[in-house]
Amino acid sequence: MRVIVLGSGAGGGVPQWNSGGSACRLARAGDARSPARTQTGIAVSGDGASWWLLDAAPDLRVQLAATPALHPRRDRPNGGLRDSPIRGVIVTGADVDKIAGLLTLREGQPLVLWATRTVLGLLDENRIFEVLDRDRVARRALPLEELVRLEGGLRLTAFAVPGKAPRWAEDPADPLSGSPEHAVALAIEDERGGRLVYAPGCAAITDDLARRIDGASVLLLDGTLWSDDEMIRLGASTKTGRRMGHVAMSGPDGALARLRQVQVGRRLFVHLNNTNPALLEGSPERAGVAAAGWEIAHDGMELEA
Ligand code: MLT
Ligand code: MN
Repeated sequence: MRVIVLGSGAGGGVPQWNSGGSACRLARAGDARSPARTQTGIAVSGDGASWWLLDAAPDLRVQLAATPALHPRRDRPNGGLRDSPIRGVIVTGADVDKIAGLLTLREGQPLVLWATRTVLGLLDENRIFEVLDRDRVARRALPLEELVRLEGGLRLTAFAVPGKAPRWAEDPADPLSGSPEHAVALAIEDERGGRLVYAPGCAAITDDLARRIDGASVLLLDGTLWSDDEMIRLGASTKTGRRMGHVAMSGPDGALARLRQVQVGRRLFVHLNNTNPALLEGSPERAGVAAAGWEIAHDGMELEA
């Protein structure tokens, strides 16, 4: 299957509008050590003709413009005046950076929108999403642990990962509560044995998650933070990674340590926050990531899973 990283940053992207941190300053200056990153979203295709979006970042419009595989095809009736190879979108949660881009898809294109019942409920409550005409954009409940067939020869299974309700819908009395349907990861298989695991928001690496990752051809994992207390130390937030629903890369419970033993074709981090020092080429943290066999995904990156 073909996999295109449309965006690789966390909420805010790189540079983030109100950040003068080093990754953002370098990105503004066009320094190759910190390339600009839009917010995380992926495109996948089993046949190169029908494409599926995984999450819809607020940056989706520019991401699509920058990705020829997703453009209207001129060999269609009417010269492709209204055409898209995009068949639909699968969203893994209701964070702003996963759903705001749905508003970019409001131009009357027939699409399928897959999300868990809980996430669909949140979208249903927000009337602004009614700009996606329900006669054309079918909202389908994504079941956990059940195989869903996608046009183009892909088979999708969604499963719960440790997480929480989106920030804008947290219960103030118990912000870490939430249903298993608030944060899901996706396993996508093609007909040739390729398997992609996409887990852009994940508060911990459980044994169950490690088992599901084992044997994948490509892993795209939550790489928001290098260390759990990074944003607190930098004075950028009062929250730990865990509190935000993100596992850190480093530390005894971090992704690098917890996934050392699993077999994966290529392992990459996505959803990188602009505070993460592993973003910076040449940093010791980036060297640590590479030494552990991981890559940092970048916008526009193409992979074969
Ligand atoms: C996250 O990944 O934690 C969220 O996107 C944060 C946010 O809502 O800004
Ligand atoms: Mn996010």
